[in-house]
Amino acid sequence: MPSQSPIAKIMHNDTLQHASYLAVAKTRAKVLKVFSMVIPMPRPLLFVGEQSCHELCDMMINEGASKVFIVTDEVLNKLGIPAKVTDYLAANNIDYHIYDGITPDPTFTVVEEGLRQSKDANCDAVLAIGGGSVIDAAKMIAMSQGNNTTPQKLIGLFKARKLGTPLYCIPTTAGTGSEATIGAVVSNDKTHQKEIAIDPKMVSLAAAIDPTIMQGMPPHITADTGIDVLTHALEAWMSVNAGAETDYYAASATKGVMENLPTAFKDGKDIKAREQMGIAAHYGGIAFNKAGLGYVHAIAHQLGAYYHIPHGRANAIVLPYVLDLNRKSSEKRLAKLAKKIGLVEKGQVNNSDGEIADHLIAKVRELLTTVNIDPTVKGMQESDFDAIAKAAAKEVSDTYAVPTYMPASGIKEILTKIKAASDEKAASAA
Ligand SMILES: NC(=O)c1ccc[n+]([C@@H]2O[C@H](COP(=O)([O-])OP(=O)(O)OC[C@H]3O[C@@H](n4cnc5c(N)ncnc54)[C@H](O)[C@@H]3O)[C@@H](O)[C@H]2O)c1
Ligand SMILES: [Fe+2]
Repeated sequence: MPSQSPIAKIMHNDTLQHASYLAVAKTRAKVLKVFSMVIPMPRPLLFVGEQSCHELCDMMINEGASKVFIVTDEVLNKLGIPAKVTDYLAANNIDYHIYDGITPDPTFTVVEEGLRQSKDANCDAVLAIGGGSVIDAAKMIAMSQGNNTTPQKLIGLFKARKLGTPLYCIPTTAGTGSEATIGAVVSNDKTHQKEIAIDPKMVSLAAAIDPTIMQGMPPHITADTGIDVLTHALEAWMSVNAGAETDYYAASATKGVMENLPTAFKDGKDIKAREQMGIAAHYGGIAFNKAGLGYVHAIAHQLGAYYHIPHGRANAIVLPYVLDLNRKSSEKRLAKLAKKIGLVEKGQVNNSDGEIADHLIAKVRELLTTVNIDPTVKGMQESDFDAIAKAAAKEVSDTYAVPTYMPASGIKEILTKIKAASDEKAASAA
């Protein structure tokens, strides 16, 4: 028998490893499906509109909050965003304590400090005013306080015994939908790898989508976080575990983003676009809570950990590659989505599913250009690619039910393309 060339050997090994990866991942996807059907997913009561912050405060007060622990970040605090809430609480004689120490992709140290301050201040309700980073930190503070435990001990599945301290959320980005989800992400202080706590007890009691709170969000954050919503919706839509309920939320979120993100990006003061984006973000969260995510998030999480790319931007960079990967297996589903949300032009109705799926993917690419997504990742090293591919493949097989599985070499190919595009852009800018 002729001996195999080194390249053929690598390909052979990759195929063998991929076969066992596939078997494990597909079994896990089935378990996840059962899990999502059996486990009740609570929902926050939702207030929407320009006075919704105050309605949320009324609920908090009626439910017995006497001292509110407000979790936010320094940027938002300096912009005076919590004032709409704190003025209202003060007018209603409700005491509060502000912790503005949350950083993007918060670490355990940041969460622990919040927990310490909340306990020291004897707070009996937690109110998050911020983006996904603030909301996730607030979830962990509320759960740790209510369970008298540490945030580290909550990492994993269903680690909490009791409900947390009552938690309320006012999202300031239209992005993660974290106010509706059963997960919270905390970054390891040393490695920056994200660790996830998953528990239905983590879902907030209520959330307010107040468009006035989002009006000052700069265009680049509006774009990054808005594409995060789109990614949640599309990954949930393409998930093998999608169902009628998640389809409703994923399609509504996709439509909301396609129709409103360009306006919210161009004119941040547009109340209607901001409100619609806030609702889309919330719906996206509900959709992926059950149906899960996919390779876009798995790879993006690694780009965040290795190269400090904001969560939404990392998704925006990876999204087109994964849509191309799923194009064949998901063409029927993507065509169905395009038809549902009015993305098919009149002459295209009788086109094949493949052509309509291509049209949808082209529209997503067009949106990325409209909102000026910077596709570059600075500092990418080929020597990191093996570890990144391994971690991303593991995240997919552990947590998601994707329509197409790819071998580690496929993930590395995507990373190589992102690096080439980044190098090209850097060279043309020099
Ligand atoms: N729990 C979940 O279900 C879930 C889902 C997806 C992502 N996440 C996590 O959420 C985090 C990302 O959250 P994000 O994308 O909302 O960003 P973010 O919360 O990290 O905020 C990004 C930046 O935007 C600023 N900002 C936020 N709102 C603003 C406003 N209205 N005006 C001006 N500046 C504003 C913040 O100060 C911050 O500097 C990541 O850590 C990610 O892992 C969690
Ligand atoms: Fe996300």
